[in-house]
Amino acid sequence: MIADTVQDRINRKAWTSWGARHWFAAAVEPTDPGEAAAIARIADQVRGTPLLDVGVGGGRTVQMLRALSNDYVAIDYTPELVEICQRNHPGVAVHRMDARDLSAFADNSFGMVMFSFNGIDAVDADGRSAILREFARVLRPGGLLLFSTHNKRGPSYRENLTRFLQLPKWSPNPLRLGFNTARIIVNLPLATINYLRHSRLNREYDGYAVRVCAAHKFGIVIIYTEMAAQKRALANLGLQTEVVFGNLDARELSEDDDVSQVYWFHFIARKT
Ligand SMILES: C[S@@+](CC[C@H](N)C(=O)[O-])C[C@H]1O[C@@H](n2cnc3c(N)ncnc32)[C@H](O)[C@@H]1O
Repeated sequence: MIADTVQDRINRKAWTSWGARHWFAAAVEPTDPGEAAAIARIADQVRGTPLLDVGVGGGRTVQMLRALSNDYVAIDYTPELVEICQRNHPGVAVHRMDARDLSAFADNSFGMVMFSFNGIDAVDADGRSAILREFARVLRPGGLLLFSTHNKRGPSYRENLTRFLQLPKWSPNPLRLGFNTARIIVNLPLATINYLRHSRLNREYDGYAVRVCAAHKFGIVIIYTEMAAQKRALANLGLQTEVVFGNLDARELSEDDDVSQVYWFHFIARKT
């Protein structure tokens, strides 16, 4: 079943905008050095095993993962993005499915499950728990989970409307300067409306929070988490965190590190 909460509707609207669809359709590179490091870290361990690519969007990660295994299936719950992914990757198994309900897949069936580019943050807290439970169920014992998630102590969490209150970037080229000015004139009212409307969903919990995010002109509402709280939630499901990378570089992070400049984490956890 495909869920349709308020948060789902807000986020799906942002991902299916003209600009987002074009970005998702064209993207093929790792989002950041941390993602590249995480994939390099698990590559040899999951090579040749069945892989599940969750929230595949337009298919940015298809080639990356199929280079590791041809036993590959991708899912996403946004019909427009499933269509783009199928068009970009004919012959690849890409299905419309909600990560909260993976009943189409048997227990212990995948060597790796990946949910990239903070896709898991897009659902509410109950949805997130359901997704992680499903991941723990469909992973084989010893299988690996790789996902990224926004850092509650990072810069994105602290962003507010001032991000859009800025003078246009100067350029000696009058056309470029005009474009930069027009962009601010268009973006500011849109960001303001979204910020005010979506901030009503902001909530604080112990170790995580729901909050409107500046991406897509404050057009998405996501979960931010703390590293320790996320590790605990995984451990409760029998998923042992092995490594955490940040988005900034390929260094492994520990709970004692200063993560105030890290936008999001990449978690690698193993089913025990
Ligand atoms: C930020 S986009 C990332 C897309 C792609 N993974 C990439 O890196 O380019 C998040 C994706 O997760 C998908 N998604 C979010 N929640 C989902 C859910 N509960 N089930 C399936 N897909 C979901 C969205 O439809 C969207 O395509």
